[in-house]
Amino acid sequence: MSTSSPTTRPDIAIETTGLVKVFGANRAVDGIDLRVPTGTVYGVLGPNGAGKTTAVKMLATLLRPDGGSARVFGKDVVKDADAVRSLVSLTGQYASVDEDLTGTENLILLARLLGHSKAGSRSRAAQLLEAFGLTEAAGKQVKNYSGGMRRRIDIAASILNTPDLLFLDEPTTGLDPRSRNQVWDIVRAVVAQGTTVLLTTQYLDEADQLASRIAVIDHGKVIAEGTKGELKASVGSGSVHLRLREAEQRAEAERILTDAMNAVVQLDADPVALTATVDGQGTDRGAAEQAARALAALARADITVDSFALGQPSLDEVFLALTDKKGATA
Ligand SMILES: Nc1ncnc2c1ncn2[C@@H]1O[C@H](COP(=O)(O)OP(=O)(O)OP(=O)(O)O)[C@@H](O)[C@H]1O
Ligand SMILES: [Mg+2]
Repeated sequence: MSTSSPTTRPDIAIETTGLVKVFGANRAVDGIDLRVPTGTVYGVLGPNGAGKTTAVKMLATLLRPDGGSARVFGKDVVKDADAVRSLVSLTGQYASVDEDLTGTENLILLARLLGHSKAGSRSRAAQLLEAFGLTEAAGKQVKNYSGGMRRRIDIAASILNTPDLLFLDEPTTGLDPRSRNQVWDIVRAVVAQGTTVLLTTQYLDEADQLASRIAVIDHGKVIAEGTKGELKASVGSGSVHLRLREAEQRAEAERILTDAMNAVVQLDADPVALTATVDGQGTDRGAAEQAARALAALARADITVDSFALGQPSLDEVFLALTDKKGATA
């Protein structure tokens, strides 16, 4: 049984207007407007408690909104909840697989519940376990899986039928770099099959790797939205961490970085360390070139740099840049 038919799908997978969810005095989701184009990965980036899971649960019909509206492929999540449910699948901060069953048993059981034949369930389970690198672990109980294996079996379970829309709620939080990369590959493969993905994450680099558009949310509100290029152009696309030989040279290094690179410079607690966020005109290459110029400028001033690393801004740095821009309103 396949849920997706090649009939024309609306161009917009998710559209919310003023979506609200209140828990007591806490406005967990406080008037969110989103438009997610069909066939893309849309990133929702935000810290703990921002309202990501609450928003996802409303879109997946697991929670009833207290205000505003939300449509999934044109279907209202309250009035057409059944229709929405037939189009979506959810994975992330929820239990879906049974810890006491093996990987194979879980997938076969869920496939049977979805109406696949016995033989069909068996072959779909084997196919997914293979695709997700879980063939060796297939016969082990899920409670003995590592965090990365667990996340992969969760995603496998959620795409037994190719859903039109897949919610991935922090699919890589707590995973090591290798497991994160495996999950990212899986997400790319799912999208290549035509599924739209709404991905929540606390990591800018993850949103950057996977998403075409990103909404940054905090305290239940969208504080920035755009393509990843637009977002990086506004928050800085690179973060240069430097350690100097001499603590006395830090003030001068700060001045050079601020003047020569137009960077936002933060002094770290460590007296020889500082971090400069560079805009790089919104591209990774631009950021790398800017960082190289900065190192050259420091060398000309006889400032010895012991170590240096170029990475993407952390979520903290993203928020600092966004809230700085809005003025001191928070
Ligand atoms: N069932 C609930 N009852 C009461 N408050 C809740 C409930 N679910 C969430 N909240 C509160 O709503 C706010 C948003 O929580 P939510 O789980 O949506 O955040 P999140 O962005 O998913 O965070 P995390 O990254 O930690 O998963 C938090 O203040 C949380 O304490
Ligand atoms: Mg959450």
